[in-house]
Amino acid sequence: MPDIAFVKPALPRAGALVLPLTEDAALAGLGKQADEATGGAIARGLDAAKFKGRKGQTTTLWAPGAGLTKVVAVGLGKKAGDLAASGAEAAGGALAAAIAQEREATIAAEGLAPGLAASLALGLALRAWRFDRYRTTEKEEDKPKLERVAVAASDATRAKAAFAPMQAVADGVFLARELVSEPPNVLTPAACAERCKALAKLGIDVEILGPKEMRKLGFGALLGVAQGSANEPRMVVMKWSGAPKGKKAGKPLAFIGKGVTFDTGGISIKPAAGMEDMKWDMAGAGTVIGLMAALAGRKAKADVVGIVGLVENMPSGTAQRPGDVVTSASGQTIEVINTDAEGRLVLADVIHYCIEKHDPRFMVDLATLTGAIIIALGHEHAGLFSNDDTLAQRIEAAGKAVGEAAWRMPLGEAYDKQIKSDIADMKNVGGRPGGSITAAQFIQRFVQGRPWAHLDIAGTAWATKDQPTVPKGATAYGVRMLDRLVSDHYEG
Ligand code: BES
Ligand code: MN
Ligand code: ZN
Repeated sequence: MPDIAFVKPALPRAGALVLPLTEDAALAGLGKQADEATGGAIARGLDAAKFKGRKGQTTTLWAPGAGLTKVVAVGLGKKAGDLAASGAEAAGGALAAAIAQEREATIAAEGLAPGLAASLALGLALRAWRFDRYRTTEKEEDKPKLERVAVAASDATRAKAAFAPMQAVADGVFLARELVSEPPNVLTPAACAERCKALAKLGIDVEILGPKEMRKLGFGALLGVAQGSANEPRMVVMKWSGAPKGKKAGKPLAFIGKGVTFDTGGISIKPAAGMEDMKWDMAGAGTVIGLMAALAGRKAKADVVGIVGLVENMPSGTAQRPGDVVTSASGQTIEVINTDAEGRLVLADVIHYCIEKHDPRFMVDLATLTGAIIIALGHEHAGLFSNDDTLAQRIEAAGKAVGEAAWRMPLGEAYDKQIKSDIADMKNVGGRPGGSITAAQFIQRFVQGRPWAHLDIAGTAWATKDQPTVPKGATAYGVRMLDRLVSDHYEG
């Protein structure tokens, strides 16, 4: 990610100059200065390119003079007064590609309020991120070069202050994206747990449990999934204690992630085509880990616990079979009809542990749980299930505010009946009708009536095409939404 600084407006003598422009405004500030320094080349160029300032429109003018390699104009839409944080972010994202080959760029953001200048920088940073750890032969000319971005702001001090927490959240997003992008031979459960240890330097308390501890806790459901793999399971508990001391200690907020580092389906094995996608079956865990980094990075004034269940779902001579009955940590027994419905088995034990050990105020779990949610909602919304209307509404609103949409789905007794078993307390699948809902019903059986929400992110964890602030690939869906949930409601 480029280094981002907020500076007093001054015309750069080299590199790229970025001009965010609305449809109604003429060149002003640095844009006007640059136009004068180039003998009117910028106004002429924008006119010739028919640049109007429409939302997301970008135009590049090459070597306009005055030492600049290029001027990039980016549209902000109709009027400056209409611009919201999301619009500024999108503009920042839109210009990322246009300046990727420059080492330095100056953004003429003097016309924007400090918060919007910061949002524009956030959008740029989010879009410019890239996972290139495993590229060794990429040509120099194809590599992105951007090292430094100077955001020229009318009040650089306030813009910088507004950007500081955004930078922490962006770092959380990047951590989540990185974990989700890693190949499954590298990011095994143990390797993922190892990476969580790095959060200690942010002040997070990190505890890692292995199979021995899990056996003691009676994690029969999670261990049943793990038993087919040579890679041992892990559970990572991350605690951030940011609530002001002195007042009586409240209950922590809890976020729980499905971390299946690879999902072959197990003995109920998946077809070969597209199976490589199942490396990102740990995206729920990735989001929880990134969220914890974001909250600690900006020193959120809340007590939060993040717990991830990390397993690999493999078929082998030791793998669990369809028909097996396992006993979960809660004592409830589960008939495993389909070994590919493994995420709910992992969550069952982690959620039970969370309640017993941490007595949370609420729990939000994230999981790439069902293909059925993609059929229902496509890639535009995550499925949101909850037994608590206030929590659900807050999550929906937080998601809307940051561009991570969720759509509330129903729960109910009739659906719950679909997971009745003939020989155990429940079975792990409820048939094709309402497949995402019966999966949520299964999880609900472990929450003991506590305030809880479940986000099925199977359709939103991975993007197959670029979005304004999300390059294609791992999205880190949920990091920004849940950070926003915490800051909007649980820090005061
Ligand atoms: N990890 C998958 C769900 C998934 C599918 C995520 C596609 C992302 C993209 C999950 O473990 C799974 O296999 N679910 C099964 C459940 C079925 C056996 C009831 C599914 O959706 O097919
Ligand atoms: Mn599966
Ligand atoms: Zn899965």
